[in-house]
Amino acid sequence: MKFFVDTADVAEIRELSESGLVDGVTTNPSLIAKAGRDFVEVVAEICAIVDGPVSAEVTATEADGMVQEGRKLAAIADNVTVKVPLTMEGLKACRSLVQSGIQVNVTLCFSANQALLAAKAGATFVSPFIGRIDDTGLDGMELIEEIRQIYDNYEFDTEVLAASIRTVNHVKLAALAGADIATVPPATIRQLVKHPLTDKGLEAFLADWHKTGQTIL
Ligand code: E4P
Repeated sequence: MKFFVDTADVAEIRELSESGLVDGVTTNPSLIAKAGRDFVEVVAEICAIVDGPVSAEVTATEADGMVQEGRKLAAIADNVTVKVPLTMEGLKACRSLVQSGIQVNVTLCFSANQALLAAKAGATFVSPFIGRIDDTGLDGMELIEEIRQIYDNYEFDTEVLAASIRTVNHVKLAALAGADIATVPPATIRQLVKHPLTDKGLEAFLADWHKTGQTIL
């Protein structure tokens, strides 16, 4: 499973990418607003840090406008992936951008049928929003399972990018359900490595080691 970082915070991306665990980045207009910086400048900086796909979202609502914005965003760097919403206009823009060789992430996916359409439009990635479905009282992970099954049934190449991840359990369940990628907020990525028994075990090993009076180097 690939990990994308779900943030537009360049400092966080730089720090996490040093772990070697970061395969890409996703941003959205809300994350750009939170970063409080120029959109194009931020995307360019992120693309210089991370080799993998960096999603940058269009804000036009008509296909033509999305395509124009998408081309501008794609020109920032070779690893920009243009993000379009899962609307009919977004699907038209997706088809057009993909045909011109630009990678597209179709976002705001909340149903298996929407994901089916994204794959038929040639999307490079589809982003089902797990956490936002959970917020409505339903189980977001069921959507990942359904999309995985449908894409496998028809051998679609579109990658399933589990998004709106809120917890470490979301990451585990998305991996079990066969998501190709999880885009994870920085704080949740850091939590993935933690386990109280690891900390306790390490403390005990080191205490016993010090009793030996030895050093390795
Ligand atoms: C990623 O592509 C999405 O924009 C993001 O995961 C949305 O997460 P949220 O529902 O926590 O805002």
